[in-house]
Amino acid sequence: MSIKTILNSSIIKKVWMALTGLFLCTFLVGHLAGNMQLILKTGEEGRRAFNEYAYFMGHNPFIKALSYITYFSIIFHAFQGFYLTYQNKKARPQGYAYSKPGANSSLPSRYMAILGTLILVFIVTHMANFWWKAKIKEDIPLHTFTVTVPNPMGGVSQKQELYYTHNMQLIPKSDEIVVKNHTDLYMANLNVKVAEGYKDLHTVVMDFFNPKKNDLALAFMLLYVFSMGALGFHLWHGFASGFQSLGINHKRYTPMIHGLGKLFAVIVPGLFALITVLIYLK
Ligand code: HEM
Repeated sequence: MSIKTILNSSIIKKVWMALTGLFLCTFLVGHLAGNMQLILKTGEEGRRAFNEYAYFMGHNPFIKALSYITYFSIIFHAFQGFYLTYQNKKARPQGYAYSKPGANSSLPSRYMAILGTLILVFIVTHMANFWWKAKIKEDIPLHTFTVTVPNPMGGVSQKQELYYTHNMQLIPKSDEIVVKNHTDLYMANLNVKVAEGYKDLHTVVMDFFNPKKNDLALAFMLLYVFSMGALGFHLWHGFASGFQSLGINHKRYTPMIHGLGKLFAVIVPGLFALITVLIYLK
């Protein structure tokens, strides 16, 4: 058997589907852990925790490499999935003479392609809204906070807006400070970099699901909840199926993997959905 035949075999394709799918499950855990900052911590503390997390995700070299594997995995998993579905359909275009799918396959397993398509549509919408603003768009506001400065002469104290910076330098927001390269704070007249600020992604996410700030907040919240339903069903079958495609079949461990997969399918999408609902209701 030639290498080309082996690489083109549907078994190898399923192994790649499994590897990319299981990698994306680890991405989901990391992404969920970061996003939990949105509801676990409140006020300025939550804002700082989330913006620091988003900065770390975008700047740490190891995480950046993982990001590229994530993009590749999403594209590969989706297109390979479409191709395998097409090949299966082509192999039996009329369907079986006697077809009773419910007898030997669970409901989600028969709908993997359609669920995967819904998830892909969600990811494209999601990346257009958040990833674009986090990584590409330049004019996203930086994280600032307000302090009350006492008047040394004993008069009325004043409010001052400061940039939240990496080394906690006190940089007042004023015409003397300009932003370059998305987050670098420069003294305008001397053209000297004085500190690095954070993109305020926390406010971007909070405002996105806030009905007072975004007319489409309800529609987006429902889209996220619906898509997390699709993700849950996809994982309900996909998680354990990935291990099976990798040839991991054991009398004792396989039932445990099935149980873990179902827990994962409920908890992870459930928490993502909960985050959006809580932000919307807040
Ligand atoms: C509560 C729900 C969610 C919120 C608030 C959220 C928020 C964000 C934000 C702010 C970013 C850009 C900053 C960053 O990279 O961390 C991002 C990136 C991303 N999100 Fe989400 N997300 C949610 C759910 C999801 C889900 C369920 C998926 C996948 C099914 C997903 C897939 C992605 C991907 C692939 C990226 C790009 C990551 C990278 O560049 O490495 N997100 N998300």
